Amino acid sequence: MKYWSDLVSSIKPYIPGEQPQDGGYIKLNTNENPFPPSSAVIAAIARACNELRLYPPPMADELRDQIARYFGIKPEMVFVGNGSDEILAFCYPAFFVGKAPILFNDITYSFYEVYSELFSVKYRKVPLEADFNIVGAAFTPPNGGIIIANPNAPTGVALSLGEVEAIVANNRESVIVVDEAYIDFGGESAIPLLTTYENLVIVQTLSKSRSLAGLRVGFALANPQLIQALARIKDSFNSYTLDRLAIAGAKASFEDEEYFARTRREIIAIREQTASALRQLGFVVLPSKANFLFASHSQMAAKELYEKLKGVGILIRYFNKPRIDNHVRISIGTAQDMRDLVVALRLIIGA
Ligand SMILES: Cc1ncc(COP(=O)(O)O)c(C=O)c1O
Repeated sequence: MKYWSDLVSSIKPYIPGEQPQDGGYIKLNTNENPFPPSSAVIAAIARACNELRLYPPPMADELRDQIARYFGIKPEMVFVGNGSDEILAFCYPAFFVGKAPILFNDITYSFYEVYSELFSVKYRKVPLEADFNIVGAAFTPPNGGIIIANPNAPTGVALSLGEVEAIVANNRESVIVVDEAYIDFGGESAIPLLTTYENLVIVQTLSKSRSLAGLRVGFALANPQLIQALARIKDSFNSYTLDRLAIAGAKASFEDEEYFARTRREIIAIREQTASALRQLGFVVLPSKANFLFASHSQMAAKELYEKLKGVGILIRYFNKPRIDNHVRISIGTAQDMRDLVVALRLIIGA
């Protein structure tokens, strides 16, 4: 293209899951939460509309304070951003650019590779085991940094706190970014490690367990020096990454613990019921600590499953990539969504 930079010509942007706008699907393809946000969130956003004339506070201090209180840490250890994707992106110039190759798994959130290319950060992929377990001992120095999704995506397989600690402890010269986008669905957060390790950045999101994918709020927890690095990148890019509505809604979400606890418990229960129903249909389903299941079936190719389900109005995610092109990822919907899925699959597979 005539006016494109070499960079734009060479990058391969992330491909998000389909977002059909016509509404007619049971949408189990982008790990959104099937429940609406807490009503307290909606009310807080409505109130914040009165202040839209003014720019938002650039570091969203009230939200940082709220998150710090929630996790029992200092506000200087909290950074907030426009979705966790933005914070993950900021980690590259903040911690990785100009260093030795960074490490991430061969099967993981594909944005890590996209950001590496965008920021010209060299990388090495650490293979998962054949059963998709993460090999913590394979993350060894020297490296320019490490980024790990825990639980991993798109597999849902989690590392224990001890396994995460071993990686952080064995790589004290690098920054370890632990992407905990799905941690609230049963994994063990690395937050208790923050007091011991100054090289740890934990990134979480309100998109999944707090039903706020559309609001775009994520946060990082780390020692104040690393948080300052993220703030320096933000302020060299866009001072106001979170708008007033997002700040107000996110804050209210942390104030409604009862709703958060209830909906995430429900998703975990639906996940376990769905996993056993799929196993009864002959699927091999990985043990998941996320709000999705990663599964394969010996009688039908994953691509065909995806296409046939789409044909009956159910969207799941199929990845045409090495090692995982015979698996599908199925987000956890409502109990009714999942019953409809199982009925459809029974017909498709002929079980
Ligand atoms: C592993 C992982 N990290 C981060 C994100 C980004 O979440 P968000 O930008 O909505 O906070 C996702 C979204 O699907 C994800 O799967």
